[in-house]
Amino acid sequence: MTAAARSRHTGGATITGTGMALPSRVVTNADMEKIVDTTDAWITQRTGIRQRYIAENGTTASVLATDATRQALGNAKLEPGELDLLICATMTPDMICPATACQIVANLGATPCGAMDVNLACSGFVAALNMAANFVASGFYKNVAVVGAEQLSSIMDWTDRSTCILFGDGAAAAIVSATDDAEQGCLYQSIHSDGTRWQELYCPRNAADVPEGAVFSGTANTLQMNGREVYKFAVTTLQKTIKQAMDACNLTVDDVKVVIPHQSNARIIGSAREKLAFDEDKIYLNLDRYGNTSAASVGLCLHELNEAGRLERGDKVIFVALGGGLTWASSVWQL
Ligand code: UT7
Repeated sequence: MTAAARSRHTGGATITGTGMALPSRVVTNADMEKIVDTTDAWITQRTGIRQRYIAENGTTASVLATDATRQALGNAKLEPGELDLLICATMTPDMICPATACQIVANLGATPCGAMDVNLACSGFVAALNMAANFVASGFYKNVAVVGAEQLSSIMDWTDRSTCILFGDGAAAAIVSATDDAEQGCLYQSIHSDGTRWQELYCPRNAADVPEGAVFSGTANTLQMNGREVYKFAVTTLQKTIKQAMDACNLTVDDVKVVIPHQSNARIIGSAREKLAFDEDKIYLNLDRYGNTSAASVGLCLHELNEAGRLERGDKVIFVALGGGLTWASSVWQL
């Protein structure tokens, strides 16, 4: 049956399964000391990161994403053929064309499921989750897979200590499905951008793409970041975006089960936590183990919380992320 032929539903949307996948190689801060002029103490104190996973031997974004989505489907007790749409959030697609999502659908044996990539850098998973909620709410799509997948190691300048210590590879997926319970689903969502500041976090194809005055390590096709400017943007935007989401739903800190933020820097997340007066266990952190995995990070948190049995029906959860573009996105879900 095609998606368009399905009967429309007036219920809600719910996250029925989650999954994650990591490459096998762990790179600790001590390992990073052998690659660039840095120390475990500097990385830990400035970022909270202790290790990251780095892909080897052709472990591309689509490979990781396929494993993560397969696990999420199993978790949701769905067959690949029951998927109507797969949205892959990535800024490191295997190729420019086809979309990585098409490769994932083929790997899963889910053809002719719809497939599309979205690139909002680190905001990708939250934006894709928002889109999935909207697709399901339209009534035309019953089961939508969201997967954030990155092989950031493929766009690292491994001589640039200001970026290469931060990022890691990985993938995480969630299945968003229609439910008869209209109370369940996305209560609020936002997606924003400020493209006037794109040069603060970008990946130039060649040196000619580099605007005057922008940070540039000298190597094209690698991630460039003005860390201090992105830090300032992140500190203000993160807490403002969480506050907006809470206000939109009339939520107090006590009403929120957990905030799942993009894992960029423990200091950035800690600052938002303090300003909004959330207890430590209410803003999830796992970047000590994975580093910044861009579009995968929020999904990795979601899967860990789900696996740990920390999410229950009726819980209100806030998703929030920001990153290159510059972009930022959020949503409030009632599980
Ligand atoms: O996911 C997308 C969003 N991204 C982010 O949110 C990242 C935002 N930015 C950050 O998290 C932080 O800016 C960084 C972690 C990237 C950098 O931390 P910082 O406290 O802002 O450091 P800084 O860039 O101001 O650099 C301080 C010093 C500099 O030395 P001088 O000029 O003071 O002598 C850097 O050269 O630290 C030096 N430095 C390092 N030292 C050891 C920079 N990178 C390293 C390093 N190891 N890896």
